[in-house]
Amino acid sequence: MEQIRTLTPRTAVIWSVLRAELDRRAGERLSVLDVGGGTGGFAVPLAEAGHRVTVVDASPDALAALTRRAAEAGVADRVRAAQGDADALTGLVEPATVDLVLCHSVLEVVDDPEPVMSALVTALCPGGAASVLVAGRAAAVFGRAMNGQLDAAAALAADPHGTTGGRDTLRRRYDAADASTLLAAAGLVVEETHGVRVLADLLPAAVADGQQAALVELERALAARSPYRDLAAQLHLFARRPA
Ligand SMILES: C[S@@+](CC[C@H](N)C(=O)[O-])C[C@H]1O[C@@H](n2cnc3c(N)ncnc32)[C@H](O)[C@@H]1O
Repeated sequence: MEQIRTLTPRTAVIWSVLRAELDRRAGERLSVLDVGGGTGGFAVPLAEAGHRVTVVDASPDALAALTRRAAEAGVADRVRAAQGDADALTGLVEPATVDLVLCHSVLEVVDDPEPVMSALVTALCPGGAASVLVAGRAAAVFGRAMNGQLDAAAALAADPHGTTGGRDTLRRRYDAADASTLLAAAGLVVEETHGVRVLADLLPAAVADGQQAALVELERALAARSPYRDLAAQLHLFARRPA
C-alpha cells in the first residue's frame, strides 16, 4: 500500500490520515465499509493491507470493475461488492459492526446527504472512524473564475448549495464548516479536516507530472493549514463515532 497508491497528489493526504488510523489499530483485521466506493481505488489497497472491505455502490458496472480489480490483486476473498443505495445500508451491513467507513466523493452527488450520514453512523461500531471526502466550494469558485466563467463563479459563490444551478454535475459543494456541521449532526466527532488537491489541479500537467514527489510533499505540507486547506478542490474530514 505504501509504495504505490499513497504517493499521488490526489490521494497522498487521505492515505496519510487513513494510515494513522490503521497504525493505531495495528495487528487488527478491520471491518471496512466503502460507501459509493466505485471501482475500489481505496477498497483494494485496504484489502491488500489485510482488512475486510465491503463496497456498497449503486453502479453494477463499478462493482464489476471492483471485483475484477480485487481478483487481479489477489484479494477477492477480502472484498465484498454489494449493489445498493448509500442511505439504505441496513439490509447490507449489520449495524454497529464497521470499524472504518469511507464515503469519498459521494455526498455531493446523492439526493440527500443527511440520511446517508445517518446510515454510515448506524453501521459504525462505537469508537469506529469515518473518512469523508467532499467537493470544496471555494476551489470551484476560483476554477470557474480562472476559466473566464465569471457568471458561473458568482452563481456558485452565492448559491446556498455551492452549485451553478441546473447544469452543474454536482448537487452541492462544501466549506469546511458546513461539512463539519453535517458530520456533527449525524453524531460524529470530527477529529481532523484536511484540504486535498490544494495545488494539484492548478498546475500545468507537465509540472505536476514532472515533479510528482515534490508536489506530494507540498500537498501534505499545506493540507492542514489555513488558508490553503480551505481553497482545496476537496475537503477530507476524519471523524469518529463516540465510544
Ligand atoms: C465520484 S464516484 C467516487 C468513487 C470512489 N468513492 C472514489 O473516491 O474514487 C461516486 C460513486 O458513488 C456511487 N453512487 C452515487 N450515488 C450513490 C448512491 N445513492 N448510493 C450508492 N452509491 C452511489 C457512484 O456509482 C460512484 O461509484
